[in-house]
Amino acid sequence: MDKNNLYKIAVVTISDKGAAGLREDKSGPLLAEALAEVGTVAYMSIVPDERAEISAEIIRLSDDGADLIMTSGGTGLSPRDITPEATLDIADRVVPGLAEAMRAGSMKFTNRAMLSRGTAAIRGSCLIINLPGSPKAAIECLDIIKPVLPHALDILTANASECARK
Ligand code: MTE
Repeated sequence: MDKNNLYKIAVVTISDKGAAGLREDKSGPLLAEALAEVGTVAYMSIVPDERAEISAEIIRLSDDGADLIMTSGGTGLSPRDITPEATLDIADRVVPGLAEAMRAGSMKFTNRAMLSRGTAAIRGSCLIINLPGSPKAAIECLDIIKPVLPHALDILTANASECARK
């Protein structure tokens, strides 16, 4: 089996308008395409900006065997942006470096990158990463962390035990 297909990925778009069918979800399909080299995108969903619903969706997907959940949207400062809190509500451990790297690396595109409050966390053996909502921002952030995702998933799922660089 192709090693890339080892990992089951879920892409979750967080958007009130998207969930209500009032806005086409452009970020989700773009992310799914970009993640094909990391694993198999087995789930895609759209959830409104409701803390409990976002948490419930992450729990459902991780319990169903997703190794990686990428969320898009709801990381900013507007009153309904609640994705990071919903993620942390059900997280076992945080992975601060992924979000730090995305914010730092995105500053070359826009200084508004510092306004994303996105987090990254682990629930069980599932890695959950919040990306911003616009298609451009989501892909820019994914491109920054994508090179480390295979190693992160190898270690998290115990497919590899050695982190040391030769
Ligand atoms: N990061 C990158 N790489 N590129 C961007 O254009 N936009 C920022 C930020 N991060 C942006 C980015 C802006 S303007 C906002 S408000 C926040 O992400 C939060 O976005 P969200 O509320 O859609 O999650």
